[in-house]
Amino acid sequence: MRHFLSLKDYSKEEILEILNLAKKIKKETKKRIFKPYMDKKTLGMIFEKSSTRTRVSFEAGIYQLGGIGLFLSSNDIQLGRGEPICDTSRVVSSMLDMLMIRTYGHEKLEEFAKYSSVPVINGLSDSFHPVQLMADYMTLQEHNLDKNLVVAFIGDGNNMAHSWLMLTSKLGFELRIATPKGYEVDEAILSQAKVFAKDSGAKILITNDPKIASKDASVLTSDTWTSMGQEEEKKQRIKNFKGFIVDEKLMSLGTKNAIFLHCLPAYRGYEVSEQVLEGKQSLIYEEAENRLHAQKGVMLWLDTKARENENGDTK
Ligand code: CP
Ligand code: NVA
Repeated sequence: MRHFLSLKDYSKEEILEILNLAKKIKKETKKRIFKPYMDKKTLGMIFEKSSTRTRVSFEAGIYQLGGIGLFLSSNDIQLGRGEPICDTSRVVSSMLDMLMIRTYGHEKLEEFAKYSSVPVINGLSDSFHPVQLMADYMTLQEHNLDKNLVVAFIGDGNNMAHSWLMLTSKLGFELRIATPKGYEVDEAILSQAKVFAKDSGAKILITNDPKIASKDASVLTSDTWTSMGQEEEKKQRIKNFKGFIVDEKLMSLGTKNAIFLHCLPAYRGYEVSEQVLEGKQSLIYEEAENRLHAQKGVMLWLDTKARENENGDTK
């Protein structure tokens, strides 16, 4: 059973295959052609954290594919009152065709997947946000920025930085990550990315200097300084992240046509300036819309694999 918990479990060919599927469905969607690729399929969406984009794109996406989404807030289901994951997962997967989970510890997702009889998708964990990266890369492909790609990630060494690490380690582009001291990426994830990079040819640079990371980069990207679950550290983080704003000065260090990406929600004046976010180099709204299309690709790909599995087809 294939799940979609992290890009570390995916090959370059598979990532590109899913994106090709996503782009094909996007074309149809733009013409308001909605084929029932997942007729009567049910997607359960468990949220332990807030969400705008992830919830709307998954729910609209499964509906457009001919299925239906069930929004399950952990406040309302027994999981939030302590029902074990092993029970929740076995029960809900016996009634559903696919599960999407947004949670804290990545190990919770792995446990869900272990007990689930249907594919599980990571809708963001403290470690990774792989569906976001599918949308991000799709946006870059659509702007022909996937050739000679140099990405500068400026900010927290958290789930988004980790996901960029996994993506480059599989696809083989250049990634520079600039974090303040003490907010570096997870060592184990970095080591794993470096192992994959040996095969893909990815170049990875880790620095504490945003200017070094941004020099001649074709993409600059940032993320909130205070992720969900870190709210109590907000004041301290604002102090410690001083100088890590992506503003016009930093953007000017990138290539002439450099673009800005952000997974959103963005906090103007902190990790990105108003001018950059609203400026002509920013692709944030296309990126956000691509969540819908990329995830339709992910769901359809997983559903096809699950059906092949049922039929004993190991291709
Ligand atoms: N980028 C993203 O996942 O947004 P939401 O938190 O609104 O889902
Ligand atoms: N790093 C952010 C991403 C939000 C989509 C968080 O985890 O809150």
